[in-house]
Amino acid sequence: MDSTLNQLDNESYVYINQLHMMQILPMVLRTVVELDLLEIIARKGKGAQLSASVITSHLPSNNPNATNMIDRILRLLSSYSLLHCSISMGSDGKVERLYSLAPASKFLVLLAIHCFIVPFIIYRRSKPSNLSWYYLKDAILEGGIPFVKANGAHLFDNPTVDPDLIECQTFFDKGMFNSTNIVMKKILEVYKGFEGLKQVVDVGGGHGSVKHMRGDMFGSVPKGDAILLKRIIHDWSDEHCAKILKNCYEALPDQGKVIIIEGLLTDVPNKKIGAQNLHLMDSIMMVGFNGGKERTEQELEALVKGAGFSHIEKICCVYETWVIECYKN
Ligand SMILES: C[S@@+](CC[C@H](N)C(=O)[O-])C[C@H]1O[C@@H](n2cnc3c(N)ncnc32)[C@H](O)[C@@H]1O
Repeated sequence: MDSTLNQLDNESYVYINQLHMMQILPMVLRTVVELDLLEIIARKGKGAQLSASVITSHLPSNNPNATNMIDRILRLLSSYSLLHCSISMGSDGKVERLYSLAPASKFLVLLAIHCFIVPFIIYRRSKPSNLSWYYLKDAILEGGIPFVKANGAHLFDNPTVDPDLIECQTFFDKGMFNSTNIVMKKILEVYKGFEGLKQVVDVGGGHGSVKHMRGDMFGSVPKGDAILLKRIIHDWSDEHCAKILKNCYEALPDQGKVIIIEGLLTDVPNKKIGAQNLHLMDSIMMVGFNGGKERTEQELEALVKGAGFSHIEKICCVYETWVIECYKN
């Protein structure tokens, strides 16, 4: 037997096994959302503890295996602290697990205000999104965008008649809207850079803006005292970003500023969860977008200065997301 196999320590073995099964939890989460399993618990009120058989009785199912399958799914969620689990002893002497909502459940229960993650779970597990990953190798060898190779259209292309693509776009927009609500509320608690501004233009603001104006940021950008680019720069190549930033520069008065809200990579990969998330997001950009990528502070600064701005300043960081001001003067 290969002697290196004997040297594989327990920790590495367990870790590497987790990696090849990483996609299972999000796939199961999509099913949990589709079946409203956490809503069934939430509707019973605060602190409710329900067995799999009670939860299954709320489902439109005659499958005799359904309770067993639901129990195993909820047990998995409990092992990731997404539910609490306690044990009760049935009259037949068999152990029965009782499930209740855990602190992290609030991100998954549609009834709760923090459920921003649910649309992203559906979007990331949607067929167009999943299919894209099969084209990453081809995109590396031949060029092109995996999402477009897989689906014949870009995520931002409108309108589409493909129901899978519509589901993908709809849940992407909902996810962005929900997460932006949460992140912006937190940013406004600490960032005071919007104070005193008369007109802030939210370029590529999705569905969260106060007043909507249709437009193409590669054509021109509406004039304002400040221009917000939240999660826009990471969608695009350096060449595209240069165009967007130049258009912003032209739309601003001399004392105006662009406010960029993005994650920032470090040169050496960081192993903290927040940094790992940003590296995952970088891969998502590679697969879904036209040259989109996460950037380091130095890379972002070079882009911004290349568009004519004099300097940038990192103002504050909320939920691993930086608020960066870019000044003309
Ligand atoms: C990652 S989302 C960010 C949305 C929003 N800024 C937020 O953080 O919630 C990117 C947005 O850019 C918009 N977008 C894409 N191409 C655009 C273009 N050429 N001009 C203006 N907006 C565009 C998309 O419709 C999408 O809403």
